[in-house]
Order: sequence, then C-alpha cells, then structure tokens
Amino acid sequence: MRKKIIAGNWKMNNGPKEAVAFANSIKDSINGADADVVFCVPFVSLIPVMEALQGTDIAVGAQNMHFEDSGAYTGEISGKMLAEMGVPYVIIGHSERRQYFNETNETVNLKAKKALACGLKPIVCIGETLSEREQGITVDLLRLQTRIAMLDISKEDAQKVVVAYEPIWAIGTGKVATNEQAEEACKAVRQVLSEIYDQATADAIRIQYGGSVSKDSAKGLFAMPNIDGGLVGGASLKSDFEVIARA
Ligand code: 13P
Repeated sequence: MRKKIIAGNWKMNNGPKEAVAFANSIKDSINGADADVVFCVPFVSLIPVMEALQGTDIAVGAQNMHFEDSGAYTGEISGKMLAEMGVPYVIIGHSERRQYFNETNETVNLKAKKALACGLKPIVCIGETLSEREQGITVDLLRLQTRIAMLDISKEDAQKVVVAYEPIWAIGTGKVATNEQAEEACKAVRQVLSEIYDQATADAIRIQYGGSVSKDSAKGLFAMPNIDGGLVGGASLKSDFEVIARA
C-alpha cells in the first residue's frame, strides 16, 4: 500500500515571518494526518519553518536545487546544502522552472540523481501544455519526460522518487483536470515506470496530481487508484490545505 503524500508548493510566497505565522496557524490541525504532508517553502523560510514544525510529523521541502555540490553558480543552492540543513524533500523540474528558467528534461534528470545521492527525496514534476493535450500527445510526452527524468536511477532509488503529474493548463487556472483525466495520466506514468523497472517498483512509486487542487476536488482525485496525493499550489497558502491534507 502506498502512503499518500500531500505537498504544498508555496512558490515565491511567505518570507520567514509570514511562513512561520502560517505554519503555526495550520500545523496542529494537519499534524497526525494519514498522509505524509510536506510544506515546500522558499529557501529563506526553510529553517524557520522547520523550527516551527518541530514536534509535528509535517516535513519541509525545497522548491529547487542545483545539480552540482558547489562551485561558481551564483545564486544557486545545492542538494548537498539542503541535506546539511536536514531538508528531506525537494521539488525538481516544476513547469514554472522549465518555462521561466530553461530547465529541461536533462537538467531534471541531473538534479533528480543528485538529490538522491544527497539523501533527498525528489518530487519530480512532469506535465503537458494545453496544446499538447489537444494534439493528443499527452501520454507520449509524459512517457518521454518520465523516461529521461529516471535515466540512470536505480530501482532502489526510484522508490524514493515522488512523481508529480501537473498538467500545465491546470496550474493556477482554477481548471482542475477531471478525476478520469488525472487518473489516465498517472496510470500511464505508472505503466512506463513498470517498463523501465518492473511492476513491483512501479507500484511502490508515489504519483501525485497537481493543478488547481482545491478542498472540493481533492477527495475525488485522491480516491483514484493511481493518484497517491497532490502537489498543491494556491490552496496550500490557505486554511483549505488542512482539508486537502485530510482528504
Ligand atoms: P495551483 O494549485 O495553484 O494550480 O498550483 C499547482 C502547482 O503548480 C503546484 O506545484
């Protein structure tokens, strides 16, 4: 049985002060949820939020990392640094990073491998644009994104990866995928994982849905057989997240 995982992606919201205030306001009602719950917060808020969450079972995650350990990469943060801070999760290859910061399937693979080498659990994002969906190439694209992301990742490490299926047309638009659309895509991802590894490995990997998840849509989505939780943007910044974490 895969344990569900609900992650809030705060994106570029909540500096240290606001982050701590929000974490404090919501932690008691989320603590003890059946699912793994992760707050993916801005780098500068990681330590204050970790401190605020001490004594709860809520984890933190970063939203990005570099694939080198150190070096002349001004402004970057490495996986090694995150590991040293005790951060357990990191989002890799979010569509906003692919779109605005030129991340590619290849850098996603480099980052995912490095995250695992550092002992971090990567939440690897994949997903199609509206025009790709309309062209009927969603499954082909998800297969390709998954294959490249997982290149040279062992069967053992693969089970520590969380895949987040996030259709780009659903992100921040209020247009959530239907339960059936999300299930079909997540099922296709599990299928390709079974081809890369084997069925047991594919069955152990958690696949989230992300894109306009709300307190109203969460329960139906998370009840689908291949959807193991959600990566939640806007609704993770509100008390709604408590309802979603318990869905
Ligand atoms: P929204 O939930 O705001 O659509 O964002 C989804 C997302 O990008 C999570 O990573």
